[in-house]
Amino acid sequence: MSRIAFVNGRYVPHGSAAVHVEDRGYQFADGVYEVCEVRAGRMIDERRHMQRLVRSLDELRIRLPMPLSALGVVLRETIRRNRVTDGIVYLQVTRGVARRDHVFPAPSTPPSVVVTARTGDRAKGDRQAEEGVAVITLPDNRWERVDIKTVGLLPNVLAKETARAAGAREAWFVDADGYVTEGGSTNAWIVTAEGVIRTRPAAFGILRGITRTVVLEVAAELGFRVEESAFTVDEALAAQEAFITAASTIVMPVVRIDGLPIGLGCPGPVARALRARFHHHAEVAE
Ligand code: PDD
Repeated sequence: MSRIAFVNGRYVPHGSAAVHVEDRGYQFADGVYEVCEVRAGRMIDERRHMQRLVRSLDELRIRLPMPLSALGVVLRETIRRNRVTDGIVYLQVTRGVARRDHVFPAPSTPPSVVVTARTGDRAKGDRQAEEGVAVITLPDNRWERVDIKTVGLLPNVLAKETARAAGAREAWFVDADGYVTEGGSTNAWIVTAEGVIRTRPAAFGILRGITRTVVLEVAAELGFRVEESAFTVDEALAAQEAFITAASTIVMPVVRIDGLPIGLGCPGPVARALRARFHHHAEVAE
């Protein structure tokens, strides 16, 4: 089936979908993005993803390219035209096209908008969750504003490629004090020997994941003890369980960190329960 992308107001064949060479996203990574899960044809947590999009745009002083209601229509239409039942929808907004110059272009420059959608293999994700994944740790070499979901992802790209070369699914970034910040494209969690779920506070050093927010709610509902506190790599290695979260993976158990087994070296009950319960809590858009 032919894929379709939305590019600046038009639905075009994915194979020939393109932005201008002087798009500031292309030249300066001057843009932001969101990834939403699509499940049974519906977007998951659209409202929260759009809220975060608006925040990211505000932080970079990029205009919202169209009202959120219109953006919602485009997201849905892109999902529909690509016949995505289970997968993801990707939205990118950049500061637009202008003669290359570091400073902002004229305020009248329209932001560029790209939306793509693609089918994922839900059964494969579920199988991976049964087995768990490996992560490696690397020094966090990103800028301070990782709270903004920008398309400037080079450190993340390099870290994830290093992970892949080491046979791992994700790289956990570690700050200068030895605390895990987050993964290259996921938030990081552990369950301590005492059964406390821990994840770093979102105030500094991480992206406030939408999946993270929902998982905090699910954990509270299930009666787990939760602490938003940073943990070290040693604390992670001593944990009963570890897992990662993102719209693209939901809750994915981590069974090895830097080659060493976590807990019994297989997915634990807390991660399983959070994964099983997640979609009861997430918001499903119409
Ligand atoms: N990544 N941290 C980083 C650095 C991320 O890139 C992501 C998401 C998350 C989790 O956020 P959320 O739960 O809202 O998906 C945390 C997306 C999925 C990506 O880049 O593909």
